[in-house]
Amino acid sequence: MGNNILLIFGAVALFISSMLGLVYIPQMLADKEVNQVEYVAPNIENGHKIYVREGCVYCHTQQVRPKGFGADFERGWGEASLPEDYKGLTPHVLGTMRTGPDLANIGKRQPSRDWHYTHLYAPESVSPGSIMPPFPWLFEVVDEDEATSRKPINLPGEYAKEGKKVIPTEEAEHLVDYLLSLDQEREKE
Ligand code: HEC
Repeated sequence: MGNNILLIFGAVALFISSMLGLVYIPQMLADKEVNQVEYVAPNIENGHKIYVREGCVYCHTQQVRPKGFGADFERGWGEASLPEDYKGLTPHVLGTMRTGPDLANIGKRQPSRDWHYTHLYAPESVSPGSIMPPFPWLFEVVDEDEATSRKPINLPGEYAKEGKKVIPTEEAEHLVDYLLSLDQEREKE
């Protein structure tokens, strides 16, 4: 009988302490802004959907660890992520695998739209030895003299196509809008 009471007391104490440690204390420490809904432009929202659909999250994280926890800071991936960085778009694409670099701050680290198009169409052409798969279905290959509303992408030397040009589709445009929006830089108070 005495042991049963101890067991129940222990279970309740364990439950309460884990609720405190895992839910209430982090909630108190989190920025109050977390509960606000952030406006996200429709093109960026669509870009996020394409990011999820294409499985980018299987190889890329979007969560930077604090200085001193691993080498994230030294790799130039930015400051530690905070809860407020994840308001807005769902599903959250924190990811678990880092086959490629963390992308939480890619909009700041690589602000060139042209670079992103070329990289998505032919990763190896701008990042020699890259094992990232190409995403050619986000682009259209048309004759060189065809009129297009979007500007053709730059393809270096051997990747260029004779008599053809490669045009980003609206999906590529929105995906890159989304990538360029990824920037967790803190506002200086
Ligand atoms: C099979 C794993 C894999 C998948 C899937 C993948 N990537 Fe990558 N990605 C990599 C690797 C490896 C690198 C590093 C080499 C390079 O730059 O290409 C990389 C690099 C990048 C970079 C440059 C990062 C930097 O710091 O320079 C961006 C941006 C990027 N990927 C975006 C994407 C997007 C967007 C998708 C989905 C459409 C995607 N990746 C899907 C593996 C992957």
